[in-house]
Amino acid sequence: MPYVEFSESFLQELADRNDIVDVVGSYVRLTKRSGANLFGLCPFHNEKTPSFSVAPDRQIYHCFGCGKGGSVISFIMEIENLSFPDAVAFLARRAGMELPEGNSGDREQSRQRERLLALNREAARFFFAELTRPGGLPAQNYIRKRQISLEMVKRFGLGFAPDNFYSLTNAMRAKGFTEQELITGGLANANKGGKGVHDVFRNRLMFPVIDIRGNVIGFSGRILGDGEPKYLNSRETPVFNKSRNLFGLNLAKKSKSGYLLLAEGNIDVVSLHQAGFDGAVASLGTSLTPDQARLISRHTREVVIAYDNDGAGQKAAQRAIGIFRDLDVSVRVLQMEGAKDPDEFIKAKGSDAFRALIEASKSDVEYRLRTAEGHYDLGDDEQKVAYLKEAAGIIAQLESPVEREVYAMRLADRAGVDKAVLRDEINRGRKKDYYREKKKEDRDAARSLSRSVQPRDRNLRYENERSALAEEGVVRLMYCDPTLFEGVTLEPEDFSSPLLGRVYALLRERAASHSGLSPAVLSGMFTPEEEAHITEVLNKTEILANAKRALADYIGVIRSEQQALTAQQDLRAFAASQRNKKGYGG
Ligand code: UTP
Ligand code: MN
Repeated sequence: MPYVEFSESFLQELADRNDIVDVVGSYVRLTKRSGANLFGLCPFHNEKTPSFSVAPDRQIYHCFGCGKGGSVISFIMEIENLSFPDAVAFLARRAGMELPEGNSGDREQSRQRERLLALNREAARFFFAELTRPGGLPAQNYIRKRQISLEMVKRFGLGFAPDNFYSLTNAMRAKGFTEQELITGGLANANKGGKGVHDVFRNRLMFPVIDIRGNVIGFSGRILGDGEPKYLNSRETPVFNKSRNLFGLNLAKKSKSGYLLLAEGNIDVVSLHQAGFDGAVASLGTSLTPDQARLISRHTREVVIAYDNDGAGQKAAQRAIGIFRDLDVSVRVLQMEGAKDPDEFIKAKGSDAFRALIEASKSDVEYRLRTAEGHYDLGDDEQKVAYLKEAAGIIAQLESPVEREVYAMRLADRAGVDKAVLRDEINRGRKKDYYREKKKEDRDAARSLSRSVQPRDRNLRYENERSALAEEGVVRLMYCDPTLFEGVTLEPEDFSSPLLGRVYALLRERAASHSGLSPAVLSGMFTPEEEAHITEVLNKTEILANAKRALADYIGVIRSEQQALTAQQDLRAFAASQRNKKGYGG
């Protein structure tokens, strides 16, 4: 979705005042390697040899490994997980620039967001008020049954959606919200007959989902008692994205405990806060997404996983460990016994017992070693060997030699084997990992070379590779030297690749008005996939010494491919007409 919300001169100034080397340099350690470009380890995929490049002259970045690339703005979008306007705001703040007043499209969009946030806030107030009314008795009873304190009801802003199809819709209409806004906000559905709307949430205990800025962005409604579905969540709306938010983070981000507690259920979160564990969050019914993990990693370097004590919970914990490892967040996994989840545990054994669990919680490595241990019978020699191999493999993945040593020692003690032997096994595991990784990187690099003709994104596939390569050349030349447009009759329609045609049209427009095309401006006009590809195209070397000659060659190729295509089409049309004449297939 292209956004055109900021003027080009603004984006240009923004890019000028946020040098890509400085900005990227605060996330990636860059070193000079070859030519004008700087290299570092790509922050967007795991690698051991740097294939992430920054070109200070063109103010673009490009990873030869994963193909990500673009301007300073798209870098911030990607690494901070922000939308285009938010990334612009981020960089503006960084450079101490004022944001301009948006144009109408921008204003319309942010007006809608503001309306929906206001609607959600009013709805949360309404649900809370309903809870305190006599009609809210069923919910009050349920809250009492779950032993949720009044303080928590207030802190989380819990509420009650009455058992009625029109209570919220009527109340919100009275406040001036339209039916369309109620539908877009995920609070109402259109009636079957097509006329009017009705409440989505009925007869449920309501948990507002609040983002880190304090906006009510959606709701999670629990049935009072048993029944299906147990929880109903707001659908995705312009202000609510389940996979990018966490229940309770608005409170947990203020925790002084030094870690966040990741639970599964909303009730667990409330229960944990009530017991004094104010760093508790839950992932809104999805298994932890990388976006959520990134959000968490911005608030803490340490996470304690307190998932349900069942197979699904254990599996989810393993997955989460992997996600956090990539983000450099240390993870401990809590082992609960005798209760299915933190809520039940705290109710049965109290908060001190839970605190003891946190203190005893195992680092992710210990947790994985223990889980692995559970899969083998250590009384059996063969199985013991298999276990030690698996365990050595787990330890081998640790980057820190000190950590490896600590775990190796512990494991050797536990299993009663010689430490030196175990160390050998671990080192073998590391070499294997290293070579496997290295091979994979080489393979990726080879693939990216052989594939370099075709865009990585399948939707952008070149129909005609020969022509497209020439078109890339034209675009690259025009980008570097717009004066080359003089006397050139090539039209955007002559391009076999629509994307390159669009870039060409843009460049020509720029050349006519004597304004350059900054990569930062591109970020606002193309999708991230398109932008990554354009960056890749612009990043290839082009010798400008013989630019006019090169341009003529490229155009020659494009023309000849065009003629070949026309000839082919003519031939096909001719063949078809012949078939018709002879009455083929008829
Ligand atoms: P749980 O079933 O464990 O719920 O689902 P809970 O919050 O712990 O509630 P109690 O203690 O059993 O009453 C965990 C989370 O999964 C999501 C909710 O976010 C819930 O908190 N979920 C669950 C849904 O989105 N839909 C469902 O139907 C069930
Ligand atoms: Mn639960």
